Amino acid sequence: MAIERTLSIIKPDGVSSGVIGKIIGRFEEKGLKPVAIRMQHLSRHEAEGFYAVHKERPFFKDLCAFMTSGPVVVMILEGEGAVQKNRDLMGATDPKKAAPGTLRADFAKSIDANTVHGSDSLENAKVETAYFFRSTEQFSYEWKR
Ligand code: RTP
Ligand code: MG
Repeated sequence: MAIERTLSIIKPDGVSSGVIGKIIGRFEEKGLKPVAIRMQHLSRHEAEGFYAVHKERPFFKDLCAFMTSGPVVVMILEGEGAVQKNRDLMGATDPKKAAPGTLRADFAKSIDANTVHGSDSLENAKVETAYFFRSTEQFSYEWKR
């Protein structure tokens, strides 16, 4: 399988409940390596731009309000099949439906406070990684291979 890059966000609930390290640990255990990482408090403009695909959906306002309610950790994960692997580790959008052992099953409290975001396709991963990180902010493990 090809090496891919995908965008992951630890949402405000994951940051405030103190599980940044546990979440990144799970990614690393499964071969997803952070190649860019930053903590930031999204502005309304940044959150609305990021979730623009959902702007006509009934939950858009609540989603943007939640995503701007506190700091988040944005990162790019690199690894084999990174897009799908990250989605598998995250679990279903609604934590009540998320499989046991997934991040959302273990840490999320509600469909809004669902702890993590992950790009849902390779195409969106390219758009989302570029939304948050310039190419000079993205690192490489090439030298270790
Ligand atoms: P994300 O984009 O955050 O990784 O989540 P996702 O792909 O699993 O879900 P998506 O359909 O892209 O929805 C984005 C976020 O909007 C909130 N949502 N609420 N009330 C609802 O029916 C509803 N549906 C979605 C969730 O917080 C979801 O993560
Ligand atoms: Mg999504």
